[in-house]
Amino acid sequence: ERGGYPHFMLKEIYEQPRAIRDTLTGRIADDLSRVTLPELSWSDDFVQSMDRVHIVACGTSWHAGLVGKAVMEKLTRIPVDVEIASEYRYRDPIETAGTLVIVISQSGETLDTLAALRDAKARGRHVLAITNVVGSSVAREADDVIITWAGPEIAVASTKAYTTQLVVLYLLAVYLGQRRGTLEDGTAKQILAALAELPMAAEQVLDTAPQVERFAREWADARDTFFIGRGIDYAMALEGALKLKEISYIHAEAYAAGELKHGTLALITEGVPVIALATQTDLYEKTLSNIKEVKARDAFVLGVTFAGDEEMRHSVDEVLYVPRTLPVLAPVITVIPLQLLAYYAAVARGNDVDKPRNLAKSVTVE
Ligand code: F6R
Repeated sequence: ERGGYPHFMLKEIYEQPRAIRDTLTGRIADDLSRVTLPELSWSDDFVQSMDRVHIVACGTSWHAGLVGKAVMEKLTRIPVDVEIASEYRYRDPIETAGTLVIVISQSGETLDTLAALRDAKARGRHVLAITNVVGSSVAREADDVIITWAGPEIAVASTKAYTTQLVVLYLLAVYLGQRRGTLEDGTAKQILAALAELPMAAEQVLDTAPQVERFAREWADARDTFFIGRGIDYAMALEGALKLKEISYIHAEAYAAGELKHGTLALITEGVPVIALATQTDLYEKTLSNIKEVKARDAFVLGVTFAGDEEMRHSVDEVLYVPRTLPVLAPVITVIPLQLLAYYAAVARGNDVDKPRNLAKSVTVE
């Protein structure tokens, strides 16, 4: 059932090219001109009157929401808030009649997310669910559903569900941007062409596995690690740190790279592993200067950037190159080596990878 892989998590990591392809299938026009989402029967009035989006989720799905916010705001200019479901439920969120609530849940059964959905519906909000499980509670109760075709995810640590959630959020952002007239056709085509190439890029990035395994073995005894990045690379840092903590039990902290000198720099000492993500062109120089700050404190820096970037080599100890894509789509590719890092670190420490201590696959309690 694990298809020859030693763990479900590794199998699911390697399934990502296929999962991404299945999630894209039928949703991009052949001429790459537009997104088709027949599951949404949204009128022009509904689309035009949308003036706010609240994305609500937990854990890794919340991290996908953080990327979703950046992309939706960029392409649609609608203000987007991303909320942790267990926080959102106990606030009094500021909503308008035109607020769309998007819940993201792999399982579709997470109690806090489901309760947030029910509350939003009770307040009269329109709720769209992005979920991996057809017929789940979230899928049944939302007004609209977009399924991520990742297939069953067995390992507790979420991998292919996350990348396919990102794909759905990109499709949705392009869809709304085009319907609202905030996204030019040329730009849409460029994004859709790059989306269509993601399964191939995901396949290529899996070739970094031996290099990542070597880092993981070297760092298996580390006490603390740091993941830094700016913009959507910061969202990646959060996801990379969660994955590592969750299954390897190595302490990991994610930091917006520019925030380091507001306290955290005191924890960066000789040999501390720092994973620095630098895929965002407009933030590249700023991130590089943050990398120099940690290098000056003798951290061991692994830089993650697009293939072809030679500049990075001079500032870090090691570089992990990922296949180039549009910066906005980078998370789908860069997360894969971060998942592998967590996986190999957990294996090196002899942990039960698929069932980390004290965690459940589907959290149906508060
Ligand atoms: C982390 C992980 C959890 C889930 C969270 C939400 O690897 O798997 O953080 O992402 O429990 O679960 P769903 O998406 O099923 O609502």
